[in-house]
Amino acid sequence: MKKVGNHKSILKVITLNLAFLLSVSLSSFAQEAAAPAPATDVAAAPAAGAGDPAAGKALFNANCAACHKLDAKMTGPALRGVAERRDRAWLGKWIKNSKDLIASGDADAVKIFEEFNKTPMTAFPQLSDADVDNILAYTSQPKEEPKAVAGVAGAGAQAGDAMGISNNLVLGLLAVILTLLVGLLFMVNNTLRKISAANGVEVADRKLSLLPLWRSFAKNQFLVLVSTILLMLMSAYFAYGYFMQVGVDQNYAPIQPIHYSHKIHAGDNGIDCKYCHSAARTSKNAGIPSLNVCMNCHKNISEFQGDKDSTYVDYTKEFYTAEIQKLYDAVGWDKATQKYTGKQKPVKWVRIHNLQDFVYFNHSQHVSVAGLECQTCHGPVETFEIMKQHSPLTMGWCINCHRETNVKTEGNAYYEKIHAELSKKYGVDKLTAAQMGGLECGKCHY
Ligand code: HEC
Ligand code: HEC
Ligand code: HEC
Ligand code: HEC
Ligand code: HEC
Ligand code: HEC
Repeated sequence: MKKVGNHKSILKVITLNLAFLLSVSLSSFAQEAAAPAPATDVAAAPAAGAGDPAAGKALFNANCAACHKLDAKMTGPALRGVAERRDRAWLGKWIKNSKDLIASGDADAVKIFEEFNKTPMTAFPQLSDADVDNILAYTSQPKEEPKAVAGVAGAGAQAGDAMGISNNLVLGLLAVILTLLVGLLFMVNNTLRKISAANGVEVADRKLSLLPLWRSFAKNQFLVLVSTILLMLMSAYFAYGYFMQVGVDQNYAPIQPIHYSHKIHAGDNGIDCKYCHSAARTSKNAGIPSLNVCMNCHKNISEFQGDKDSTYVDYTKEFYTAEIQKLYDAVGWDKATQKYTGKQKPVKWVRIHNLQDFVYFNHSQHVSVAGLECQTCHGPVETFEIMKQHSPLTMGWCINCHRETNVKTEGNAYYEKIHAELSKKYGVDKLTAAQMGGLECGKCHY
């Protein structure tokens, strides 16, 4: 009878636990499903106008951002809400060809032209009416107040949470299963005790003491041998791990003399990597741009404005403006008089990537010939506020990629014959860099 009773209570505990488990997992799944909702809300809200603000933003950045900002005067006026200030037909005419409109004597056109010291605006006859609508939809978007930003950030955080939830879920599951097991063992123990009591068997309560256990371990030569071997293997494993990371400077991110942000330049302002690292296409080294290259833009950009609709707000505007001033100090540029003073203090950039001298690496071979993106090796640089070494730059890293990446032979006459012969030899359609000789020691070691 008793047995049955116990059996029942075990079942009860298991069902209870299962029910608890189910409710935990269900509620967290519900949260996961709910998470993306705010993001779609944010995206959907501004789409009220006729045009598509997302397409408009792309057009704006490509055609207008050189002279216009949304919320600040630049070469041209701030454009946020311009569709509310002006007539739609007038805007269409102005954007497609402002010169004609001014020449026609339109009062508004002449007024704004005079206001901006008769700076001509580029004509955009190539933009369709739909394009103009899209741009205007973008400029009519409400300013992203902290609230909207919080929404976006919140969505991100929730996405992160979703990851956390699934991790927590797994851990929670394991914990529940463990408690379940412990509970079961106790019950089994209890049941056994009760059975033995019922059958009149005496169960001796053995007191566990550590000392004899330790002694019996020391006496057992086999156990000692096995644990010594285990200990040695473990320390060898850790020692190997330690030595393998010596000289591997992954994620090395030194403080540079000027806080130069790739996120702001290559990311938000979309400046092409090769505008500054132009040598990457043609030579072994990608090189760091000379400060003259910076001054092409920074003669005009002396203050950090920070676009409201962008996400780059890691530091304050004052901090960034002071960093631009450091650039001026280095090249000897007086921003008040807009002249070079002749007093220069060269910037000493700290080198981040640095292969050993016995390794030969050539950028043009990888960038121009193989057609690899910078990001394949350097990571999502356009998101780096501070530059760092993304890849380990170990021999294994080079070799792995040579084994996995096919050689780009299209449009490269040099490869035609070699490719035909080698692909016959290996019996493949596409050759990897390794099959082309990318594993020969001499190719990478002088
Ligand atoms: C070369 C610089 C330049 C570019 C590029 C440029 N603009 Fe302009 N824009 C100006 C200037 C300068 C003015 C002020 C009027 C003037 O001097 O012609 C202006 C004025 C305007 C105005 C009138 C604003 C008002 O308050 O009435 C609108 C609208 C406008 N631009 C839209 C655009 C759009 C849309 C684009 C991109 C498709 C664009 N602009 C590209 C320089 C530019
Ligand atoms: C406006 C100029 C400019 C642009 C555009 C630019 N960079 Fe740079 N880059 C620099 C400067 C200046 C440094 C040195 C300062 C530093 O390390 O942050 C640098 C450093 C680097 C380094 C580290 C060099 C080292 O010391 O090992 C890498 C890698 C790099 N850039 C890759 C890129 C990639 C990839 C892009 C395109 C997504 C890019 N850069 C766009 C100016 C630029
Ligand atoms: C193609 C144009 C261009 C070039 C070239 C350029 N910049 Fe900039 N730079 C910008 C723009 C745009 C901003 C952001 C201004 C804003 O948002 O108000 C900026 C911002 C900055 C800032 C403040 C933000 C930050 O990154 O810390 C510094 C400092 C700076 N630039 C330094 C440099 C240096 C050093 C170089 C040369 C290696 C350089 N820039 C080359 C366009 C350029
Ligand atoms: C196949 C991988 C790979 C690709 C693709 C690649 N790089 Fe590199 N890059 C490296 C390695 C490796 C180094 C270290 C070179 C050294 O120390 O000699 C390096 C170094 C650099 C440096 C430091 C200065 C120098 O020339 O040594 C810059 C800047 C740089 N890369 C920019 C770029 C840019 C910009 C691109 C895209 C046009 C690019 N890299 C594409 C692997 C790559
Ligand atoms: C992201 C992939 C990738 C990485 C990482 C990479 N390579 Fe390459 N590499 C290639 C490809 C693809 C080619 C073939 C290019 C071609 O068409 O000649 C190549 C070619 C070469 C060649 C010329 C081989 C030949 O047959 O002439 C050398 C040398 C070389 N790589 C050195 C290196 C070194 C050194 C490193 C590490 C620091 C490295 N590579 C990292 C993709 C990579
Ligand atoms: C694709 C390019 C590449 C090829 C092919 C290559 N190596 Fe390396 N090797 C490297 C790089 C990069 C390093 C630097 C590794 C580091 O700093 O961790 C290196 C480092 C070494 C080292 C120094 C030990 C170490 O790990 O730092 C030795 C030894 C070596 N290579 C031997 C060879 C031999 C032998 C071959 C031919 C079987 C060979 N390598 C082929 C790129 C290459």
